[in-house]
Amino acid sequence: TSGRWLEDLITPDAQSGYELAVKLARVAVKLTQPDSDIRTQLRSAYERDAAALIQVSHVVAVHFATIARANRYWTA
Ligand code: HEM
Repeated sequence: TSGRWLEDLITPDAQSGYELAVKLARVAVKLTQPDSDIRTQLRSAYERDAAALIQVSHVVAVHFATIARANRYWTA
């Protein structure tokens, strides 16, 4: 995640916008916990925790709302 990794919020379609939303969420986790061993340990906890997975979904939804707006909901 060093250097330039976010080229643009503008995406060709809604699905690639959603994929970008997931990426934004994951980059935040990576920046806040740079140790990949620790992330792997924590993964085994959250992957079986329904509430954590619902929160993951929510964080992605918040990013997706921003991206969708930036793309004028792919209507233009
Ligand atoms: C895997 C999303 C939070 C650690 C994944 C995968 C997704 C994902 C989609 C599956 C990737 C794949 O199989 O190709 C997210 C999102 C998060 C989040 C959107 C937050 C909103 C976290 C947190 C941690 C974490 C908090 C640990 C600190 C990992 C690790 C894997 C993983 C280590 C790799 C698992 C493996 O395939 O070995 N995450 N995640 N993630 N996540 Fe997360």
